[in-house]
Amino acid sequence: MKVVGISGSPRKEGNTETLLLEFLRGAEESGAETRLFILRQMDIAPCRHCDGCLVEGKCVVKDDMWLIYPELEGLDALVLASPIQFYGLTAQVKAMIDRCQAFWARKHVLKRPLSKRPRKGVFISVGGTKSRDLFEPAKATVKIFFRTIDVEYWGELLYRGVDEKGAIRQHPTALKEAFVLGKRLVEEAVILAEKGS
Ligand SMILES: Cc1cc2nc3c(=O)[nH]c(=O)nc-3n(C[C@H](O)[C@H](O)[C@H](O)COP(=O)(O)O)c2cc1C
Repeated sequence: MKVVGISGSPRKEGNTETLLLEFLRGAEESGAETRLFILRQMDIAPCRHCDGCLVEGKCVVKDDMWLIYPELEGLDALVLASPIQFYGLTAQVKAMIDRCQAFWARKHVLKRPLSKRPRKGVFISVGGTKSRDLFEPAKATVKIFFRTIDVEYWGELLYRGVDEKGAIRQHPTALKEAFVLGKRLVEEAVILAEKGS
C-alpha cells in the first residue's frame, strides 16, 4: 500500500508537518510504503488557466508539479496537511491543488478515468484560533480536490488554538491520534483487500 503525504506548511517543524510525520510513521508501522512531499521546498507555479490541459489532460507548465502528478495517480492513500491561513489552505497547497485541473480535464472533458481502485484521503489541519467554523472553507476545497482525483474523504485531524511553532507537541492527544489514524488507515485497507480477494 502506498501512502503519499503532502506538507503544505510554510514553516519547517511546524504543527501540521509534525502531525503528518506521525501519521506516516503509523502507516509505515502497519506496513505501508510512504512518500513525503514538502511543498515549500518545491517550485510549483499557480495554474495559468491557459486551458492547455484540455488537449491531452496534462499540464503544460513544466516544474516540480511533475514530481507529484505520477504519485497522485499511483497512490492508495493521500494525506494532505495544511495549516489554516486566512480561513483557507496555504498558498503552497492551493497552487498544487489548482494544478490538478489537469486531472479534472482528463476526467470530465476527455472522459478518461483516473483510478479504478478505491483510494482514501485524510486532511490534517491546525489553526491558531478557536473559531467554531475555522476549518469549513478549507475542508470544502479539500473535499472537491479529493473528489476530482478519485480519493474518498476518509478522515481528518483538525486542531484549534494551536499557534506557536511546535505547540502541537504540548497537545495531550494529537500526536498519538495522528499515529493511530495512520495505522488504522492501512489496517482497514488490508482487511478490505483480503475480503475482496
Ligand atoms: C498568513 C497566516 C494566516 C493565518 N490565518 C489564520 C486564520 O485565519 N485562522 C487561524 O485560526 N489561524 C491562522 N493562522 C495561524 C496558523 O494557522 C497557526 O499558526 C498554525 O499553528 C500554523 O501551523 P504550521 O505550524 O503547521 O504552519 C495564520 C497564520 C499565518 C502565518
